[in-house]
Amino acid sequence: MKFFADTAEIDDIKELAATGLLDGVTTNPSLIAKSGRDFMEVTKEICGIVDGPVSAEVVALDHAGMMREAEVLRKIADNVCIKVPLTIEGLKTCKALTADGTMVNVTLCFSANQALLAAKAGATFVSPFVGRHDDNGFDGMDLISDIRLIYDNYAFETEILVASIRHGVHVLQAAKIGADVMTAPPAVIKGLFKHVLTEKGIEGFLADWAKTGQSI
Ligand code: G3P
Repeated sequence: MKFFADTAEIDDIKELAATGLLDGVTTNPSLIAKSGRDFMEVTKEICGIVDGPVSAEVVALDHAGMMREAEVLRKIADNVCIKVPLTIEGLKTCKALTADGTMVNVTLCFSANQALLAAKAGATFVSPFVGRHDDNGFDGMDLISDIRLIYDNYAFETEILVASIRHGVHVLQAAKIGADVMTAPPAVIKGLFKHVLTEKGIEGFLADWAKTGQSI
C-alpha cells in the first residue's frame, strides 16, 4: 500500500520523506489555509521534495473553470495530480484531463456508486473519506470494501486512495482490504512506528549492553 501524507506542512513532509516511505502528498484548500502559505508556492515546494503524486485541488465548480485552474496547476511540476470534486462537472473535467495524460484524484467520495462513476471517468485515484463517513454514523471501511469489490469485478485501474484517515486502525483495515493508497496526517503516520514493547525492548537491551562495558 502506498503512503501519502495529507498535509501542506513542509517540515513534516521533509521528515517523512527522509524515511523513504513516503509515496506522495495530498493537499486540499483547508490544509493550504492551515499552512498559511501561498498555494502555488507551497505546492511547487512539495513537488520538489517528493517524486510521487502531489494532489492540488481546484476550487472552481464548473467544468470550464476547473479546466482553467488545472491548466495553471499542472504547469507547477510533472508530479502534480489535479484534485476535482465528485460532481458531474468534476467528472467531466476528470475525463478530459486523464485523456490528456494528466493524473486526477477525484475527491469527496462517500458512496460506492460515486466511486464507480469516478472509475468510469478514468480517474487515476478516487478518494473515499472514511473518517467523515464514520463521523456521520456509517462504516467508512464498508465503503472501502465495496469499492475494492466493484473495481476488482471490472478490473478498473483507478487506485483507491483512502482519505480522511484518523488513526492507525484505519490504516490497518485499509491495508487488509487491499486499498492501493492511504493518505493520513503526519501524526498518524508517525504513530505507526510506535509500540510500547519496541520502546521497552530498546530500553532493556541498552541497559544490558551498558553492563558489558563494550562499544561498537
Ligand atoms: O484530504 C482530504 C481528507 O483526507 C480530509 O480529512 O480529516 O479533514 O476529514 P479530514
